[in-house]
Parts: sequence; C-alpha cells; structure tokens
Amino acid sequence: MDKTLENFAKTMQSNTLLRLFEQQPDRAQEFTINVGGVHFDFSKNHITPAIITALCNTAREKGISSAINGLFSGEPVNTTERRAALHTALREPASNSEQSLLVQATLNKMDKFVERIHQQQWLGFSGKPITTIVNIGIGGSDLGPRVVTQALFAFRKENITLQFIANIDGADLADRLLHLDPETTLFIVASKSFTTAETLSNARNARQWMLDAGCTHGLLKQHFVAISSNIKIASEFGIDKENIFPMWDWVGGRYSLWSAIGLPIALEIGMEGFRQLLAGAHGMDMHFKHAPLEKNMPVIAALISHWYSVYWGASSHAILPYAQRMKALPAYLQQLDMESLGKGVTHTGEAITTPTGSILWGTEGSNGQHSFHQLLHQGTHLIPCDFIAVKKTMSEYDAQHWYLLSCCLSQSQALLQGKTLTQAKDELATQGLAQTEIDRLAPHKVIPGNRPNNIIIMDELTPFNLGELLAFYEHKVYTTSVLLNINAFDQWGVELGKQLNEDILHAINTGDIDKNWDDSTIQLINYLRGTKY
Ligand code: F6P
Repeated sequence: MDKTLENFAKTMQSNTLLRLFEQQPDRAQEFTINVGGVHFDFSKNHITPAIITALCNTAREKGISSAINGLFSGEPVNTTERRAALHTALREPASNSEQSLLVQATLNKMDKFVERIHQQQWLGFSGKPITTIVNIGIGGSDLGPRVVTQALFAFRKENITLQFIANIDGADLADRLLHLDPETTLFIVASKSFTTAETLSNARNARQWMLDAGCTHGLLKQHFVAISSNIKIASEFGIDKENIFPMWDWVGGRYSLWSAIGLPIALEIGMEGFRQLLAGAHGMDMHFKHAPLEKNMPVIAALISHWYSVYWGASSHAILPYAQRMKALPAYLQQLDMESLGKGVTHTGEAITTPTGSILWGTEGSNGQHSFHQLLHQGTHLIPCDFIAVKKTMSEYDAQHWYLLSCCLSQSQALLQGKTLTQAKDELATQGLAQTEIDRLAPHKVIPGNRPNNIIIMDELTPFNLGELLAFYEHKVYTTSVLLNINAFDQWGVELGKQLNEDILHAINTGDIDKNWDDSTIQLINYLRGTKY
C-alpha cells in the first residue's frame, strides 16, 4: 500500500462528497472526460485533484506507460502463457503488419459470408435461404456477441433472426430448437479452443437435430460454420474447412468479440456496422495510448476502483445500465473483469497481499431500483456504482426515455446526498405525524448518502459508441492488472473444476466412486444416483 494514499484515505473518511462539491466549484467539469460519443463523469467520488495526482503517480511507479506500450506492440503481456494480447490489433486500420494481414483476410471472409446470407444466396439443405442464425458458444465466445447484438437491436437486418445457446443444460438447446426450422437455420459453433465441453455437446446435438430433420451428411456444411483458433479439431469435428473462420492465440477469449467471434454481430447489423464497432474501439485505444494519465478515461476509472478496493475496503462494484438493450452488460463485464483480475499471485508467482479485482454485479435500470437498490442506499457495504445511460431515445416512447434518464440521475444523486435524521424528521412532521411516530420512524428513513458513483453517458447507442464503451472497460481492466502486477490474460482458476468434472461425471454415470473423496461429494453422487435413499 502506498503511504500517501493511505493518509489521503484517512483524511477523506472525515470529509463528505457533498462538502467536496462545495469546496471545489468546478468539480463536475474538472472530473469529467469525454472521448468520442462517451461522457464519463467521475466527480461523485471520494477524490480531490491531489488524490488523482497521487493515484496517477502510483500508476507511473507501476510502469503504466510501458505496460500500455507493451500491450499495443505485442509484447507477451500474458506472461504465464508467453503470449501477446493483441485485441487492439483487431480494430486497427489496415496495414502491412503480420497481424493486420490476417485480420483483413478474416474480415474479407466474414464480409463474403455475411453478404451471401443477407442476399439470401446461402441455402439450406432443402434449397430455402438461411434466415435464422444460432451461435453456439460460451464465455467469451458468447457474451461479447450477445451484449453487442442486444444493444444494437435498432441496427438489425430485417430478414435475420439471431439466437444464442451456451449452457450445458440441455434445456437451453431444447428451448431454442423448439421454435426453429432446420431448413432455414444455420449454426455458428464458436470456440477458440474447440475443446469446450458445453459448446461441443450442444453442437453435436444440433447436428443430430439437423440430420433427423432430413439433412444429409453431405449438406451439413450448409448449416454449420465454426470460429476457432484450432482449425484441425474444428475440421475433425466435421466442420467443412471452407466454413471455418480463424482466430489466433494472441486474442484472449474474453477480448475476442472484435475477431471472427463477432460474426453474429456482423450478421445481425451488417459488416459496415461491425466495422463501425471496431472503429469506435480503435478510437478508445488511441485515447488510452496517448492521453495523459490525469485525463485518460480507462486509467482514471481503474485508479478509482483500485482506490476503493485497496484503500477503502470495497469488495464489490455495481454495473447499472439504464438502457434495457444493455441489460447483458453486467454479465459481459463479469467475465471481462473477474476472469481477468480474480488472481492470487503476481506475474512472478508471489502471493498478493492487497485485494484483487472486485465482485461485479448489477442489472438494468430502472428494474434494479425495485430490487436491490435498497441495499445500495441503506445497506452497510460500500459499493461503488457505474451508471451507464444513453442520451438519445431508443424507442418511440420519448417521455419514458426522459423518465428513465431522470431515474438514473436521481439514483446517482440519492447515493451522493442521502437524507439526514433532521430531514427525515422534518419530512414526517410536514406529513402531520405525532412526535412519537416521528421519533419511531425517522431513524429508518435516514439514508447515509456519501456513496460514490460514476456516470457514463453515451450520446447514442451506435456501433461506434458501443465499441468505445467496451474498449474503455477492457483498458480499465488492463490498467488494474498493471496496478496489481497480475496477468489479466490467463484463467487457470477455471481448470480444476473442469478436471474434477471428468471423474465426477464418470462416477455419476457408473457408480464408480473414489472412496477417498470427501463425504459430501460421495453422499451427493449417491443421492443423484438414487442408490442410497
Ligand atoms: O472456461 C473459461 C473459458 O476458457 C473462457 O476463458 C472462454 O471465454 C470460454 O471458456 C470459452 O472458451 P472457448 O472459446 O475456447 O470455447
């Protein structure tokens, strides 16, 4: 922990956000950063200009500038796997670099495919054009395309329906298939590794469904394409080589929506829209690379989260999109942030003593207000929040849009200002309550306030602005990893469960139970098998 920041944290405990606004008249302006169509107001935080300077100094000491250069120049920032993390190269304008040539060739392949689907030239086994696309994938091969296509619903192509299947629970597949016509359905099997059990099981069953509907083995290629960095396994699985869209080990799964994993996005909104998404992300990349730290949107957002996590003991962070179409954002950011930052050791393997990452959670507003906001306002945890809203209305119900935005601002303001005991008593008195009733009720109506939050407003929910927003969060995560000195690009923690799963599945299927296992697991397997009860 940094001594200067520790001292700042102590003095700030006795100050309040409201007082900070009084002390610094230009605070809102000073603590706002605009990049393209994204407006980031971080003024409702326990910070002063001196704290921002101290936080930026910490980032400098941790080598943020060379870490940013290392990310963009393809250094092996994924140290455990000795790989680059070049998702930024996916959205760079075309050049002659090795990566760019691969990226451009893949974009061209996507372009041709999307065109054939949109022009109704890609026909199913019975000669009818494909009109339904089903993405089978999980984690990074699902969440990115899902959040983007939901958010950009207004840009959808009329004659395409898009569905997602992720879960190993067969109900996910069965419920989708129920409404689909095999003759006009095409599956995208999206898996970087092409070894993910959930995806392969769903793909196998989808293939069987297609065969059962009368498609011949020879014509399966009209109904299955794949996206993978493992072309060999994908083609062994039975995907026609021509139908495999490549990705590379220098693109991490949770950073991959900008690669061919974004094919469902391109199908939904068209290639031009997809390129706009990439252009927006590139705009944020350039800002992240070149803006001074004090005015650098992702760096400042990361520093503020780090400030609360390490110096204020906040262990969670709420993501509150005030836009129905962005309701998948919390789930997308959970993977991006928690799979990247949920680590226990540094790059060189030493145990970390400060908290790593935050527990991200949230839902779309205004729905969340009628659910968990009570805890945000009166619970005892410190939970910094990101409110994310869109300025331009997205439906014909204009009045509802302004109501939505005012909900967003008023929640943010309520967290800031709260309600004192005196205010609560005065309010009850004006309602004409007896003094005993006032005294009984007032403590329950006190809202502590002084709770920090960011407001992010997008001018409009366009592909470009969404690209900027998602790249903002990617770089926030990377900056945090630099502050913590951890690898943001591996995910070894998910391996153990996958390993154990093999033996447990075998035990459930056969009754062949390892007697050395813990009693709880043994009892549960027996219970599931129905042999003991
Ligand atoms: O199990 C975690 C994970 O490896 C994620 O990192 C990844 O996004 C997801 O599984 C899916 O992996 P794949 O694209 O290789 O199927």
